[in-house]
Amino acid sequence: MVDGGRLWRRLSELAEVGKRESGGVTRLSFTQEERAAKDLVARYMREAGLEVSEDAAGNLFGRREGKATGAPAVLIGSHVDSVVDGGNFDGPLGVLAGIEVAQTMQERGVETNLAVEVVAFTDEEGARFSFGMLGSRALAGTLSPKDLEHEDRDGASIADAMRAYGLDPEKIGEAARPLNSLAAYLELHIEQGRVLENEELPVGIVTGIAASVWRRLVFAGETGHAGTTPMQLCHDAMAAAAEAMAVVEDEASATGSSVGTVGQLGVEPGGINVIPGRVEISLDLRDIDEATRDQVEDRVLERITQSCERRGVGFETEVLQRMVPVSCSQQVRDAVLAACEGLGLRPYDLASGAAHDGMQLVGLCPVGMIFIRSREGVSHSPDEHSSKEDCQAGANVLYETTLDLASQH
Ligand code: HGY
Ligand code: MN
Ligand code: MN
Repeated sequence: MVDGGRLWRRLSELAEVGKRESGGVTRLSFTQEERAAKDLVARYMREAGLEVSEDAAGNLFGRREGKATGAPAVLIGSHVDSVVDGGNFDGPLGVLAGIEVAQTMQERGVETNLAVEVVAFTDEEGARFSFGMLGSRALAGTLSPKDLEHEDRDGASIADAMRAYGLDPEKIGEAARPLNSLAAYLELHIEQGRVLENEELPVGIVTGIAASVWRRLVFAGETGHAGTTPMQLCHDAMAAAAEAMAVVEDEASATGSSVGTVGQLGVEPGGINVIPGRVEISLDLRDIDEATRDQVEDRVLERITQSCERRGVGFETEVLQRMVPVSCSQQVRDAVLAACEGLGLRPYDLASGAAHDGMQLVGLCPVGMIFIRSREGVSHSPDEHSSKEDCQAGANVLYETTLDLASQH
C-alpha cells in the first residue's frame, strides 16, 4: 500500500502555494506560483529517487528506469496549474499520487520491466490564455506556433509568457515524444461530479472524456446615454449578450447530455448611466458525443445571429479551442478494473464531464483515468474536497495499475 499520510502531507503543503484569502489557489501557467509549485514537486520527485527533468514546454518529469533499457515508459501524472481561486485536489492529486507510487516502488525495491515517469503538465486548465493543455499538446507534438499567439487579459501571448518564464517558444517542438516512446498514460483525478458520492464509492473507472468547444463572442451595439435614448432606438450590446446567455442555457439543457456556460464577461465602456456599446463573453459547450455538441453549437449561433439582427447589434465569434471527445483504452480500463477487484473495491464505470490531458495523448499511447469521489461534486472552487481515505484508495489503485502496466513485455 502507498503511504497515505505522506501523500496527504504533500497535498496540504502544495495547497499553500498560490493560496488566496478564500482558501482557494491561483496558479496560472508561467507565473511564479506555478514555478514555485513545480519546484516543490521536483523536490518530492527527488525524495522519491526519481531523475528530474523539464522539457521545452515546461513539463516537469520524474523518471524511474525499468529493467528493459530504452523500452517505452508508463507515464502517470496530471497538472499543478489551477483555475483562478481553484481547489487543492484538481491536478495535484494525480501528480503527488504518481510520486507516491514511484516512491513506494523505490522503498519496496520493486523492479518493473518498463520505466515509470511521473509528469506535472504545463497549463492543463487554460485559465490564463483561454487555451489549455499546452504541456500535453506539446508532448503529443500537436502544438502549433499559432497556438502560442493566444493572449491573456493583459495582452501577453503564450510565447511572451514562455520567454518571461525562461523558455524559448521556438523550441516547443523539442517537447514532442516519438510514437512508441510511451506504453500508456494513466491519470488519477478527482471526479468533480457527484456520481461516485451517490454510489457511495471512493473510486471509479473512467470510460471516456467529454470534449469542449471554447468560443469568444463579441457584441457591437451603440454606446448611448442611459436616460435620453428611447428603448426602441437602443442597440444595447449587454441586452444582446444577456439574450445569448439564455440561448446557451436553453439549447444545452434541451439535449439532456450537453452542458454549456458563459464564464467570462467584458463590458465597454462600463458606466452605470451608459448603454453598453461593446460586450465580450466566452462560451464553454461540452458533450461526450461530438455531433450532439456541434449541433447545439450551431443552434446557439443561429439563434444569436437572428437576435442580433433584430436588435441592430453586430455579432462576431471565434473558436478559441475545439476538442474531440475520447474513449479510454480498454487495455488500461481492464488494468484499473483488476486493481480495483484486487483491492476489494466495487468497480464502477463512469464518463468524465471535465477535460483532461489524456485527451491530447490518445494518438501517442493507450490512455486511462481513475477517479476518486468529490464532496458534493464541487470543483474549480475553494470548497473542492476529497477525503484522505479516498485519496489513499485512489493512489493504491494507481499503484497496482501502474505495476500491472509496467510489468508488460
Ligand atoms: O475545463 C476542464 O474541464 C478542465 O478542468 N480543464
Ligand atoms: Mn484537472
Ligand atoms: Mn480543472
